[in-house]
Amino acid sequence: MIPLSVPNISGEELENVKNCIETGWISSAGSYVDEFEEKFSEYLGVQGSVSAVNGTAALHLSLKILGVRKNDLVIMPNVTFVASANAISYIGANPILIDINEHDWQMDIPLLEDFLSDECQKNKDGDLIHLKSSRRISALMIVHVQGNMCNMDKLLNICNKYNLPVLEDAAEALGSSFKDNYAGTMGHIGCFSFNGNKIISTGGGGMIVSRNPDFIKKAKHLSTTAKVNSLTYYHDEIGYNYRLVNVLAAIGVAQLEKLEIFKEKKIQIASRYRKNLRGIGDIGFQKIKSDVISNEWLFTITTKSMQELLSYLNNNGVMSRPFWIPMNELPMYSECLYVSSNNISSHIHQRALSIPCSTGISDCQIGEVIEKIKLFFNS
Ligand SMILES: Cc1ncc(COP(=O)(O)O)c(C=O)c1O
Repeated sequence: MIPLSVPNISGEELENVKNCIETGWISSAGSYVDEFEEKFSEYLGVQGSVSAVNGTAALHLSLKILGVRKNDLVIMPNVTFVASANAISYIGANPILIDINEHDWQMDIPLLEDFLSDECQKNKDGDLIHLKSSRRISALMIVHVQGNMCNMDKLLNICNKYNLPVLEDAAEALGSSFKDNYAGTMGHIGCFSFNGNKIISTGGGGMIVSRNPDFIKKAKHLSTTAKVNSLTYYHDEIGYNYRLVNVLAAIGVAQLEKLEIFKEKKIQIASRYRKNLRGIGDIGFQKIKSDVISNEWLFTITTKSMQELLSYLNNNGVMSRPFWIPMNELPMYSECLYVSSNNISSHIHQRALSIPCSTGISDCQIGEVIEKIKLFFNS
């Protein structure tokens, strides 16, 4: 079976992990944690980075840092991995789900703009209020779906106008950029994931980044149980045990070295698929705007025969997976406010499937995937 998207462990990972074990530095303190955070900040050009146990924990902490409180509303796209919405729920807040654009599958910006101007208003304290529910909207979480990005200039202008802090869920978009600005660095705070299927992986892990040193300080504090100093057990608020351990950061340091090579490889894979699958049956692709460089994290195509092609590929040695079920179709988020005119989320979900694109995939395997898809449409 040609796997969908698996880790590529081919460098110094083993050496680094061995070093942790030989020196006994396997837990939450250790030089690899500092090195991983420093090199991550250097790569993205941000003020600071704080590692976390996973991307979901990074999102949870970031919402707290932006001041999201219980009963608040947080705007997010309707199409994403469920962790984005779950992080909002952990605070006791609720998502407002905005439909996606049919071309790039990112949050529909004109729809967002209409919703904010028609259904929300700033109160005398400067808080943005959703008029129908009288609830405060305290942040916007933009998700860079599949490593692609929306027009961030437009989004940030709108959020600025409405005083909305922006959290970038860049879990899938490490290395992607909009007008030379890396995903995760343009909003107030950004989050990444190093889950097994991501462009670089530590097995499990996450990162919070920001240009605001206060946010970085707060992220460090909250992720280490809000301990005030290392000598006493005085904690000044309810904190979390969310730090990444040294042995996983050791893998992260080695993975980060290869990020640019992995990104190049993902871009090559996507361009070969686009070239060879264009015009086959009714296959369509996610559009990437000219201002965006996508890391092409997970190559996904659309077809009306999605279910049949999915079964065919999985039964013929090519791992394939459907796209996420939109948030408004999941039981715990079905009551959330869903802003949409044409329910594009559902349209894309019914047609999209992802195909193998691991950074370790061989040319021969890519050729095999293409041939199987052609065979499906020709038979
Ligand atoms: C868009 C998005 N957000 C959040 C997450 C959560 O990250 P993690 O699995 O590291 O908790 C993921 C992936 O797993 C994701 O794809």
